[in-house]
Amino acid sequence: MSIIYGKRIRLRAIEREDVAKFHKWVNDPEVTRGLAMYLPLSMQDEENWFDRMSKSDPDEKPLAIEVRKGRNWKLIGNCGVFGISLANRSAELGIIIGEKSEWDKGYGAEAMTLLLQHGFETLNLNRIFLRVYEDNVRAVRSYEKAGFVLEGRQRQAVYKHGKYEDVLFMSVLRSEWDTRKKEK
Ligand SMILES: CC(C)(COP(=O)(O)OP(=O)(O)OC[C@H]1O[C@@H](n2cnc3c(N)ncnc32)[C@H](O)[C@@H]1OP(=O)(O)O)[C@@H](O)C(=O)NCCC(=O)NCCS
Repeated sequence: MSIIYGKRIRLRAIEREDVAKFHKWVNDPEVTRGLAMYLPLSMQDEENWFDRMSKSDPDEKPLAIEVRKGRNWKLIGNCGVFGISLANRSAELGIIIGEKSEWDKGYGAEAMTLLLQHGFETLNLNRIFLRVYEDNVRAVRSYEKAGFVLEGRQRQAVYKHGKYEDVLFMSVLRSEWDTRKKEK
């Protein structure tokens, strides 16, 4: 797979040098608020994650998100496709933009749109879904902009910050992707 280019961002392979930034992000409580992480992570934990990811199915390797800054590219997060079911032609997406100064600029929606395009038009998937905590309103809004629709919820499925929260399931079907493309 070669680098996936969008209008303002690109998705490239993750390198070992990226791990220091990931380590910073996964220890930032504001970043991990909407994630299934609650313990501090050491640099060794992150190195181990990188080693595991390097050996994973090539279609499920996480990708670095970079935004164009003049002539350079700035690393702002990572995202990926995982849990691919060949029989059902379905998979799940995940994303972290760790650079908080880059939130709310539409990069999350753009990265998810690139992953949808990759999932439908390269991996030939039929259904692409994600899970998001109900009170992660920034994420929900970003996913809606990328075309995800709410398909259901697991009630009180997660306990975070002293309360139970619903976990929302959002998805895009291939038929919806095709319709959207024709409308453009
Ligand atoms: C969730 C995340 C991927 C979204 O990416 P992003 O680039 O910040 O989001 P976008 O710019 O695409 O969209 C954010 C939208 O939420 C809106 N928003 C932000 N805060 C909001 C709030 N408190 N209430 C309502 N809307 C809000 C923004 O205005 C924007 O909508 P708009 O373009 O219609 O104005 C990113 O913020 C992130 O990685 N956060 C930390 C990790 C995380 O939560 N990952 C997702 C786990 S499911």
